[in-house]
Parts: sequence; C-alpha cells; structure tokens
Amino acid sequence: MRKTLIVANWKMHKTLSEAEEFVKRLSGEIADINNIETVICPPFTSLASLAVLTEKTTILLGAQNMHWQKEGAFTGEISPLMLRDLGVKYVIIGHSERRLYFNENSRLLKRKMAAAFNYGLVPILCVGENWEQRSARETENVIKEQLLGALEGLDIGKDAMQKMVLAYEPVWAIGTGNPAQGSEVGVVAGFMRSLLQERWGDSCQGVRILYGGSVKPDNIVEFTGKAGMDGALVGGSSLDVKTFAALLKAVSGERSA
Ligand code: 13P
Repeated sequence: MRKTLIVANWKMHKTLSEAEEFVKRLSGEIADINNIETVICPPFTSLASLAVLTEKTTILLGAQNMHWQKEGAFTGEISPLMLRDLGVKYVIIGHSERRLYFNENSRLLKRKMAAAFNYGLVPILCVGENWEQRSARETENVIKEQLLGALEGLDIGKDAMQKMVLAYEPVWAIGTGNPAQGSEVGVVAGFMRSLLQERWGDSCQGVRILYGGSVKPDNIVEFTGKAGMDGALVGGSSLDVKTFAALLKAVSGERSA
C-alpha cells in the first residue's frame, strides 16, 4: 500500500524567519494527521534550521534541486552529501522551471537521479508537457522521453526504485489557476505506470505518482482520489500555512473516510 504524499514546493519564496514561523504553525495544525506523508521543500537557506525544527514532528524535508557530484569546483551548487548531512530525505529533480530557465536536460537529470539514488535521497522526478505539446497531442511522447531519458540505463536497486516518486506537472497548469482535469491526470498516471512496469517490472509497484499544477484545498481530492495517483506537488497553495493545512486535512479526511 503506497502512503499518500503531499509535497510543498516553496520555490524561491520565504526568508528564514518566515520559513520557521510557517513550520512551527503547521506542525501544530497537523499534529493529528498520520495517514499521509508531508514534505516541505524550502529554499536551501532554510534547510538547516527547518531540519532542527521538524525533528520531533511528522514533517519531512526535501530540497528543490542539487548538483550530482559529492563536492568540487562548482560555484553556487549544493551537493547530495550536503543535503543528506542535514537529514534531508527528498529532492526534486527536473522541475519544469529548471528545465526551462536553467536548461536542464535529460542527460544532466540522469546524473542527478543517479546521485540521489547513490546518496540515499528519494528523488521526486518531474515530468510534464507544455501547452504546444499538449495541443499537438504529444503528451505521451513527451512524458515517455522525459521519464525514460532520466532513468533508462541507471542501475537502480529494488529498494530505491520502490521509494522513487514521480510528479506529473503539466507546464500549462503550473501557477495558472487552471488545473488539469482529474480524469486526464488519471490517464497520464496510468501511462506512466505502464512505462515503468514494462521496463522495471514489479519492482516499481511502490513508486508514488503525484500531480502538480494549481492544486488547492478545494480541488486536491479530485487528484488524490484517482486510482494510481498517490498525492500532489503543491506550489502556490503551500505558501500560506492555513491554506496548506486545509489542503492536508482535506486529503487526510478523504483517506480516512
Ligand atoms: P502551483 O501549485 O503554484 O501551480 O505550482 C505547481 C508546482 O510547480 C509545484 O512544483
């Protein structure tokens, strides 16, 4: 049974004091929720402090990006070893904003995936088509290229594979207030699962597939309630503590109903 996973991607938001305040308030709000896993991915500058603050809570930490090397002359980069050292458990790999603004391609993302597996971090690999690709009915081809491009040829242990997370984030739905339809998302998740199954067989049964793109407290269960979907990657709605707590409570309530 895959545990529902809700991941907050704060992107480039929140100073250290704002991040600390948020986590203190959130941990009180969701202290009773134990049927879902909650992960926060703050900017790197807040990770060390939040690692301490979340120690005795149910909240886990993720990073939004990382380099693939352990150390070296890579000005401005953060290594998987540094993240693991802080107690970070998850790392987002290949978010569409990184692909678009920082030219991250499959070749580079494969290195990052390999590094995440090597350092015992759980990668959240993001895939998704843009509007032109969707209009040209290219969604499945794009997803296949992105997914296999970042994974094929890697030597992934069964344990690491079972823990891996994939996020389907259609680019046109991100930050637009215009989410994909739950039914469409269910179809894409099914396609992603079939790709995994073809290549990696039953060792991918534990892989969790999230949806991301304009998720809100009042639409979240449309996605988490779909067969094959295991949670969400949340941007804007994760920035306000009341809104994010409402979203988590909606999912938790649906899971225990
Ligand atoms: P929004 O929830 O703001 O649409 O962002 C989604 C996203 O990019 C999460 O990674």
